[in-house]
Amino acid sequence: MDAITMIKERRSIRKFKNEKVDRELMKEIVDIAKWAPSWVNFQIARYTLVDNEEIIGQLANEGVNGFVYNIDTLKNAKGVAVLSFVKGKSGKIDETNYATSLGNSWEIFDAGIACQTFCLAAHAKGVGTCIMGVIDEKSIARIVNLPEEETVAALIVYGYEADDYVASAQRKETEEIMRFADK
Ligand SMILES: Cc1cc2nc3c(=O)[nH]c(=O)nc-3n(C[C@H](O)[C@H](O)[C@H](O)COP(=O)(O)O)c2cc1C
Repeated sequence: MDAITMIKERRSIRKFKNEKVDRELMKEIVDIAKWAPSWVNFQIARYTLVDNEEIIGQLANEGVNGFVYNIDTLKNAKGVAVLSFVKGKSGKIDETNYATSLGNSWEIFDAGIACQTFCLAAHAKGVGTCIMGVIDEKSIARIVNLPEEETVAALIVYGYEADDYVASAQRKETEEIMRFADK
């Protein structure tokens, strides 16, 4: 799959076949996703993969602030990646000082790039994904026993797209989102 097709054809998938994704294939996807760029190449993104039905159920019941839309997606999902990042590194110019007025925002920026890279890698390998930002990161951290130095950035539901699923998100006109800065 070429890069343009990969970018344009990736859609959020919220309905999945009743089939788990092989763990080896998920490892291949993370092997690709790890090539995402990051602040000073700190590579702070971490992927905790969940394919255990009971834990996915717990994530649905306790990890998405009761948001029914996400609960429904999780309840038919066969896999969930908990995307987290190691705190207190990205954005820093040395051990203690942040390099810009954006402070530690660069860590969530890194996590965002890692997130999209994971989704694109999964798509290229035939695996559908949906990023979830409406989450309760503290509950998720507890459920998956996340290391203390990490924060949850997002859930990424993954699996094989159901045959009857129709993805429909449109995009703005390019003229609306770009400009050239002229003198
Ligand atoms: C940061 C972020 C948070 C999101 N949170 C959710 C979410 O909680 N639940 C959901 O179903 N989709 C969520 N999405 C998916 C968006 O709704 C989706 O990307 C957008 O509508 C465009 O559709 P597409 O991904 O199919 O192109 C999120 C996407 C991003 C980037």
